[in-house]
Amino acid sequence: MTSSISTLTIKRPDDWHLHLRDGAMLRAVVADTARQFGRAIVMPNLTPPVTTTEAAQGYRSRIVQALQDSSLPASSFTPLMTLYLTDNTPADEIRKASGSGIVYGVKLYPAGATTNSDAGVTNLLRYCTGALEALQDTGLPLLVHGEVTDPDVDIFDREAVFIDRVMIPLRKAFPALKVVFEHLTTRQGVEYVRDAEGPTGATITAHHLLYNRNALFRGGVRPHWYCLPVLKRETHRQALLEAATSLSNRFFLGTDSAPHSRNAKENACGCAGCYTALHAMELYATAFDSVGRLDRLEAFASLNGPAFYGLPVNQDTLTLQRQAFDIPERVHPDQADLVPLAAGEQLPWSIVRG
Ligand code: NCD
Ligand code: ZN
Repeated sequence: MTSSISTLTIKRPDDWHLHLRDGAMLRAVVADTARQFGRAIVMPNLTPPVTTTEAAQGYRSRIVQALQDSSLPASSFTPLMTLYLTDNTPADEIRKASGSGIVYGVKLYPAGATTNSDAGVTNLLRYCTGALEALQDTGLPLLVHGEVTDPDVDIFDREAVFIDRVMIPLRKAFPALKVVFEHLTTRQGVEYVRDAEGPTGATITAHHLLYNRNALFRGGVRPHWYCLPVLKRETHRQALLEAATSLSNRFFLGTDSAPHSRNAKENACGCAGCYTALHAMELYATAFDSVGRLDRLEAFASLNGPAFYGLPVNQDTLTLQRQAFDIPERVHPDQADLVPLAAGEQLPWSIVRG
């Protein structure tokens, strides 16, 4: 079903869900994102987590410094910071964040859901109503990791159960709250976001568009395909692909690129997260091309996110061409030793380097 288009120029895309880490890992990865994207919503799950505007300001300066230390001009990329919601986040901290001009969202991690989420929320509607009211009043979006952490719920059902247990009651209690359902992975999630009342959006990763859960076990266990939420069955991948290419402005790009060193991935208890910042747009173009809808990539990657966040569309452009891209086996060996997703494989699309 692939189309005959051989080059595609789109407004420069943004990444609405990204992990940049800190220290040596930050210095290793930041330029990979800045080469492709104009802006990124930067996740706050550091240790300790970024829970205050002051901490977000410090983290932002370290990102800008890391960018300056790389070969890229600092002006080419803007980090959009987020706060990490806890059971104790005061409403005043939310108001301060909203007025800061550097914080663009507040992240809800259910406690224990994923990497560095121990300080996350234990009961959203019991402990966070003050913060949620402040979010609703200020218009700052709540960015939701939409999985329950109840160990009795099967890992493949955690998103669907989260919709019933958290999203629906949350929406009833805060109908005007801006909510982004992060890294959507299921048909139930797609249907919820498509039909929900109130300002609702969702990010979708490239890996959930390209792979189903078989990828985790192809010829043996494949730790580099392990992320959270975990890859799902083919029927869910199809629903995500349909949503991303549907022209609904509720769905937009969020890589969830989540770098972990090779040792932390290739381990008896390997970390969750796929490194996709290196080749994000090549991966997304491959997914859209697979259903003959490359002409819809620009809306998903470059237009819908800014519209949801109330930000201008980037002025400059990015050009992709139908030319093989060989995904390297390793990147940044000195600073981080990272294995990109689908290392050693080939993608049919490349970015035309400017
Ligand atoms: C993320 C990470 O490593 O920080 N991992 C992942 O698998 N996506 C955390 C997250 O976004 O869940
Ligand atoms: Zn993430």
